[in-house]
Amino acid sequence: MKAEERAGEPRRTNPGSTVTAAEEWTSVADPAGAASLLQVENLSVRIAGLHILQGVSFDVASSGVTVLLGRNGVGKSTTLRAILGLTPRNGTATGSVRLGGEQILGRPTHALVKAGLGFVPEDRCVFAGLTVAENLRLAERTDTPDYDLVFSLFPELSKRARQRAGSLSGGQQQMLSLGRVLLNRNRLLLIDEPTKGLAPKVVTEVAEALERAAQAVPVLLVEQNLAVVRRLAGDAVVIAAGQVAWTGPGEQLLADPALTKSLLAVNAAGGH
Ligand SMILES: Nc1ncnc2c1ncn2[C@@H]1O[C@H](COP(=O)(O)OP(=O)(O)OP(=O)(O)O)[C@@H](O)[C@H]1O
Ligand SMILES: [Mg+2]
Repeated sequence: MKAEERAGEPRRTNPGSTVTAAEEWTSVADPAGAASLLQVENLSVRIAGLHILQGVSFDVASSGVTVLLGRNGVGKSTTLRAILGLTPRNGTATGSVRLGGEQILGRPTHALVKAGLGFVPEDRCVFAGLTVAENLRLAERTDTPDYDLVFSLFPELSKRARQRAGSLSGGQQQMLSLGRVLLNRNRLLLIDEPTKGLAPKVVTEVAEALERAAQAVPVLLVEQNLAVVRRLAGDAVVIAAGQVAWTGPGEQLLADPALTKSLLAVNAAGGH
């Protein structure tokens, strides 16, 4: 029996979302009985002789935001890239990554994107010389790009459609980067440090945008800013020394300053 069949009736990932009934996806029940959309098991990544991930296991919930945390250089981006089939040629990724119960580790990135994995990389990658509208048009992957969703989440993009992306603020560029991914139908968004290097006011704007995006699509978010984590996180997964060192409700992690400090070397009250 297929995992999807075991899960019974299709579930709505978010009852209040703009996702239509026809676009609903199924999730599977994990062994503990809770619904999870993505299951990472014993993921190991070696790059250029370095054993960066050494058996990482965690689940991503089928709604809301799951946050991936850890000190600088611990392997957070490496984790997202391995899930997406973007481990570099001089590296290997082994273990298991299941999306909706189906094994996806080792599949080519283009197939994973087609299967509904949306990626917003750390460097945003907007085309600075093109307009907002052109950036969006280049991101269309189907005949029915969801401009209604994107413009309802980010009205600023509609207002600035003719503006060159290079002249947008950092926060607006991040919204464009999110908007490009949200144009297409996604099962899960993987978003890498969207607030990195942004001014505090813009961080708040981006956090609001992420909060709205997560109402439409579940998110696996790498985020170092603990104020943003506090605002968005459902579950938190902390990587240390190549493995998952802690997992549980984000609130619980942030409520324990000693734990936060030991795992992340930051003060939970102040952010990062
Ligand atoms: N292509 C690569 N070649 C060699 N080493 C790499 C490569 N990619 C990542 N690494 C190394 O793997 C480790 C993990 O890197 P990664 O970028 O995943 O960390 P991170 O947790 O995302 O860090 P940050 O918080 O700085 O974004 C680092 O030591 C990094 O130098
Ligand atoms: Mg990183």
